[in-house]
Amino acid sequence: MGLVTAACLAEAGHQVICTDIDSHRIASLNAGVVPIYERNLDTILASARKAGRISYTPDAAEAIRAAEVIFICVGTPPKDSGEADLSAIDHVARQIAKEAQSSKLVIEKSTVPARTGLELQRALGAYSRNGIKFRVASNPEFLREGTAVSDFLHPDRIVVGVEDESSARQLREIYAPILERRFHCPIHDGPCPPGPPAPFLVTTINSAELIKHASNSFLALKISYANVIADLSEQLGANVDEVTHAMGLDPRIGGQFLKAGLGFGGFCFPKDVQAFIHLSASVGVDFSILKAAETVNKQRIDRFFEKVRKALWVLKGKHIAVLGLAFKANTDDIRFAPALEVVKRLLDDGAQVHASDQEAIDRAKTLFPQVHYHEDPYEALKGADAALLCTEWDIFRTLDWARAGKLMARKLLIDGRNLYSPALMRELGFEYYSFGRENLRSEGSASKS
Ligand code: UDX
Repeated sequence: MGLVTAACLAEAGHQVICTDIDSHRIASLNAGVVPIYERNLDTILASARKAGRISYTPDAAEAIRAAEVIFICVGTPPKDSGEADLSAIDHVARQIAKEAQSSKLVIEKSTVPARTGLELQRALGAYSRNGIKFRVASNPEFLREGTAVSDFLHPDRIVVGVEDESSARQLREIYAPILERRFHCPIHDGPCPPGPPAPFLVTTINSAELIKHASNSFLALKISYANVIADLSEQLGANVDEVTHAMGLDPRIGGQFLKAGLGFGGFCFPKDVQAFIHLSASVGVDFSILKAAETVNKQRIDRFFEKVRKALWVLKGKHIAVLGLAFKANTDDIRFAPALEVVKRLLDDGAQVHASDQEAIDRAKTLFPQVHYHEDPYEALKGADAALLCTEWDIFRTLDWARAGKLMARKLLIDGRNLYSPALMRELGFEYYSFGRENLRSEGSASKS
C-alpha cells in the first residue's frame, strides 16, 4: 500500500520520498527492483523514477525533514487477541516528532481502529521536543491487491478525515490531479473512460477511520452470507450461482462479493474483521453478526475438506495437485491464504502435494519446502489422484481439462472457487465437487451433497 501510494502520488506530479525500516527493501528499490507483484506498479515506478519524482532512503530523518506531508503506511497486524497492533504507528510518531524541523501534516493511511488519529495527535505532541506543531488527518485506502494502482488512480471515493480546514484543503490539492485525471494512466491505452470525478468526502478523523473498517467488514459479511447460501443451496438442491446472480441484480444488494467458495483471506479482511470485533467489544457494542461472519469464514476450509475426504477417503500417500497458492488471483501475496491451510492439512495427512501458482511459489517455498512446486499446472497434474483448485488465476480458468484429465491418475477435481461449470466437467467425465452446486460423483451422476 505504501509503495502504490508513493508511485501514484509521484505519477500525479508530486515529489515523493519513501523510507522504510527494512534497508534491504530500500536498496532493492534503489536498484530498480519492485519487491512485490502488483499490476502496473513497475510501469509507474519506472516513469516516476525517470522523471525524478520518486526517491528512496533508509534514513527516516532525511525523509521526514524533506516532506511537508507525511503518509504513514506501516503495518497494523493483529495481536493474538485480534486487537490491531499499533506499535509501528507509535514508532513512526516518535521518529517524526524527533526528526521534524518544521510543521507537518501527518496522514494515517494504514488501516487503524477509530480514535487512533487522536492518539497519534497526542503522541506527536508528547514526543515533540522543540514545540513544532503537527496536524493529523486520516485518509483510508481502498486498494485491492492486484488492482491497487487502478483503484488509486480511479477511486470510487476519496475519504479524508480532518480536524481543521487547512488539512482538508491540502489533501484536496494533493488529490486534485487524480480527481481531474491529470496523470498518464498506465491502465488504459487511450483516454480513461469518461465519468464524473470521484466524490471527495471530508469527515472527522473518527468517521474516516470507521469508514474503512465498516467497508471492509461489510464486504466480509457479504462473502460469508454468500457462503452460507452456498451451503443451503447444496442441502436444498439449488445452485448458488443462480441464486447470488439474481440477488445481485437488485441494486440495493449489488452483484459483487457474493462469490461462494473457500472464503476470504489476505492481509486485510481477516485482520480488519478481527480488529473491528475487538474495537466494538471494547466500547460495549454487540457485533455478533460480524463474529458470525468470521466463524463462517473459518469453517470454509472444514467444508472443503469434507469434500476432499469424501472423494478421496484416505489422503496418505495420495498425489494431490493444488492449483493456486495466493489468497486470490493477480497477487503473489499468500498471507492468510486459504490455500496455505489446505496445503498444511494435506501434508499433515501425509499426502504428496504438487502445487502450481503464477506468482506465489517463491513465497510458499519458504513455508512448505516439502511441497513439489511447478510453474506449469499440467506438470502438477501429471499422475495426480485429485486436483484442488484454490485460487482463481486466469491460467486455471482457461485450463484444458480434457488434456489435464489424460495426465491425471484419476479425473477428480474439487473446486474451491466455483470456477468451472459442472455441466462441462460432466461432459469431460470428471468427478467434480464445488460449493453450492451439483456435485458429480465417480459414475458421473449428480448428487446433492
Ligand atoms: C480488500 C478490500 O477489497 C480493499 O478495499 C481494502 O482496501 C483492502 O482489503 P484485498 O485484500 O486486496 O482488498 O482483497 P479482495 O479483492 O477484497 O478479496 C478479499 C478476499 O475475499 C479474497 O480472499 C477473495 O478471494 C475473497 N472473496 C472476494 C470471496 O471469497 N468472494 C468474493 O465474492 C469476493
